[in-house]
Amino acid sequence: MPTACNVVVLISGSGSNLQALIDSLQPGVSPARIRAVICNRADAYGVERARNAGIDIRVLDHTQYDGREAFDGALIQAIDAFEPHLVVLAGFMRILTPGFVRHYAGRLLNIHPSLLPRHKGLHTHQRALEAGDREHGCSVHFVTEELDGGPLVVQAVVPVQSDDTPESLARRVHIQEHQVYPMAVHWFAEGRLQLVEQGAMLDGSLLPSTGQIIRA
Ligand code: GRF
Repeated sequence: MPTACNVVVLISGSGSNLQALIDSLQPGVSPARIRAVICNRADAYGVERARNAGIDIRVLDHTQYDGREAFDGALIQAIDAFEPHLVVLAGFMRILTPGFVRHYAGRLLNIHPSLLPRHKGLHTHQRALEAGDREHGCSVHFVTEELDGGPLVVQAVVPVQSDDTPESLARRVHIQEHQVYPMAVHWFAEGRLQLVEQGAMLDGSLLPSTGQIIRA
């Protein structure tokens, strides 16, 4: 990894994970620097967070493009203008085309609010409660063509309490997201984390299929 790891962050919403990443970076000290934030919604609060942090922002409204391929093509152009070593999906609510995923193979991370492979997709907190799960949490993973299915890097496990609602559980999971996502980005930026054919590798050893487990 070169001295600075250029990171481009893709968001669609509130951007609390973006904020956690911004807060975790010490300019001139951290190996990662956020070169740009790209958002598909002009009114997303995350855009304001990026602006407050003095980060370059590009808004690409997906509704202005003729289909997924056209949008993802434009997205690739916008991202690559910042010469990223790593692209971080932080609540980017778009299904990505295989071409996009292949273009960033090995340098595309996502965070998902469940203990993958459980509860892929949406409404994960409610589904964890409905399933009677005793544990829930979040997962950072490399993105591959399988939706929410790429090799896991780290999972934070949150115990489910008997009086939890989807909202209370979401709050506790979010706190963990804000810990583990910056951690994974730092690992990558330090050259400690890679995607290899067999899975995710940290410090030269293949991670277990769960990724590294952190217990809240
Ligand atoms: C997070 O829950 C993340 O796991 C999911 O989208 C949400 C984004 O939240 N991928 P925020 O915009 O970072 O606050």
